[in-house]
Amino acid sequence: MRSMAIIGDGTAEHFEALVAVDQVAQQDPGRRGQLRKWLASGSVRVATRDDSPVGYTVIEPSFFGNDFLVLIVVGEQHRKAGIGQLLMGDVESRTRDTKLFTSTNLTNQVMQRLLARRGWVSAGMVFGLDEGDPELFYLFPQPLVAIGPRVQ
Ligand SMILES: CC(C)(COP(=O)(O)OP(=O)(O)OC[C@H]1O[C@@H](n2cnc3c(N)ncnc32)[C@H](O)[C@@H]1OP(=O)(O)O)[C@@H](O)C(=O)NCCC(=O)NCCS
Repeated sequence: MRSMAIIGDGTAEHFEALVAVDQVAQQDPGRRGQLRKWLASGSVRVATRDDSPVGYTVIEPSFFGNDFLVLIVVGEQHRKAGIGQLLMGDVESRTRDTKLFTSTNLTNQVMQRLLARRGWVSAGMVFGLDEGDPELFYLFPQPLVAIGPRVQ
């Protein structure tokens, strides 16, 4: 029987294993370079099952001073088993004093369903980032007590 996945901080030691679950990183040196930087800056959380990484998230404080879920990836052979939900729950439950946003392409219906299931709400659409595939933005509605005024 497969064990439960657990979530922990990503470190430089996870690099090769995360490339192995991320098809984009396997093909794109730019993504691999970003992954090294995200790991070095402590932005990565890793889902591990049976001691092997199966997915990861990246959060950066990059969206008008707010946290932004830059990326969530689950290895193809580990999908449709709740790892995405688990990673989202980890991101959402971390204490922060900013809002939490993310975005996904209009064509990415799997991610849109995951966000809807997790209670994220629509925050608008931006055209022109990916040609012919607008970007949908979402906000995770955290309790307002945790969020202070945005510093201008
Ligand atoms: C989006 C992504 C992270 C979802 O990861 P995941 O681990 O498959 O997510 P979950 O397992 O929680 O949910 C996915 C589906 O599996 C289903 N599922 C979950 N557990 C299941 C189980 N035990 N048995 C059958 N189906 C299950 C969910 O209901 C959901 O179904 P739906 O798509 O019809 O709504 C993954 O598809 C991925 O890495 N995609 C490529 C990268 C990407 O697009 N990232 C988002 C933009 S940054």
